[in-house]
Amino acid sequence: MTQPDRENAASLSFESAAVHVGNVHMGSRMGTAVRTPIVMANSYELPYDAPALDWHAPDQFLYQRNTGVNQNGLEKRLAALEGAEECVVFATGVAAMYAVFFTTLKSGDHVVCTNIGYNALRRILEGLLPTKYGIQTTFVDTSDLAAVRAAIRPTTKLVHCEVLANPVNRVQDIDALAAIAHDAGAIFSVDSTYTPPGWFRPLEHGADIVQHSLTKYINGHGDAMGGAVLGNHELLEPIRIDAQVDMGAALSPFNAWLITRGSVTLPLRLRHIAAATQQIAEFLEAHPKIAHVDYPGLPSHPQHELAARQLPHGFGGTIAFCLEGTQATQSEFVSKLRLVTSAVSLGHDESLIVHLSLEDAHAVEFADVYKSNGILRFSMGLENPEDIIADLAAALETI
Ligand SMILES: Cc1ncc(COP(=O)(O)O)c(C=O)c1O
Repeated sequence: MTQPDRENAASLSFESAAVHVGNVHMGSRMGTAVRTPIVMANSYELPYDAPALDWHAPDQFLYQRNTGVNQNGLEKRLAALEGAEECVVFATGVAAMYAVFFTTLKSGDHVVCTNIGYNALRRILEGLLPTKYGIQTTFVDTSDLAAVRAAIRPTTKLVHCEVLANPVNRVQDIDALAAIAHDAGAIFSVDSTYTPPGWFRPLEHGADIVQHSLTKYINGHGDAMGGAVLGNHELLEPIRIDAQVDMGAALSPFNAWLITRGSVTLPLRLRHIAAATQQIAEFLEAHPKIAHVDYPGLPSHPQHELAARQLPHGFGGTIAFCLEGTQATQSEFVSKLRLVTSAVSLGHDESLIVHLSLEDAHAVEFADVYKSNGILRFSMGLENPEDIIADLAAALETI
């Protein structure tokens, strides 16, 4: 039977690429299975002229720390979905962050980084890199373009931000930041974990490097961790060699297989999540016991216009909010929820909520109301939003 051109990402729509790219039909003794099996092999047979091999070629199967069938299939699919030349996958999203910072920077370099973002950013850029490697970072409000321009130094090598900054959904203008970074001769890196392809593709807006925690929406089922870095070959080759092969945070074939399977339904899940999250944000905003809500789909969000321009397919699946009251009120509310689970992470099939305390959330950067109450970060799952609203409403009723 002649197969359609499954690997030709350019000829496929987003939904079809999520199903077909990277899924190899196995021939001969596999009975032509129509799903790529999990290939649990540390090593692959080498040709007899092994010394002539390119040991770091992305498609060269040698040893699982370099790549394997499942990791390679996932890399191809993610590159197709993100519109990237190349992708390297890692054991976790944090390993992908390390990969970017450790391979693009050297002693004496300077970084301009969002002052709101996933908290490992602070641990790496404020703790580890300056003390051990002499790499300085200025943390700025990356939604304030003048502040970003002012933070640039002659030694600035990297500008880094998140499209929607974790945990409060501050929106960054990616096109404008790309222009500032490139004027300074710096690499522009974007963590797009909150806005997977389907909602946003940073490379089309000037980013040089995209990072993802695959643990979140791309896997989408809360059962595997992974990370990815995407960009052109020139930037990705050292990331593959120095970070994946030599630092060794390789993704396991099983997790690569799970994430590949999860990604099939990414387009469908994102449509559900965007619509459902909007509904829940509107419910929360209208509730008299809610003190504050940050969701870019709400007209009250200070950057709603920018978000509407930049994210026409969905404003994301997380809401930051807090109740009138104190820290204790937030904890009491979380304890009363029956369907929404109190757990970290986001983008899973089940809705999650986490109460971030001031210390966790680098409160200094946040709205005053969060400083006294902490932040509730809600992540919409695949449930019917009416059930989630009923759960939230019932818990609010008891407060
Ligand atoms: C925006 C963002 N980037 C990176 C990470 C790290 O990913 P992982 O937990 O897969 O290491 C997270 C985790 O919450 C995140 O929210």
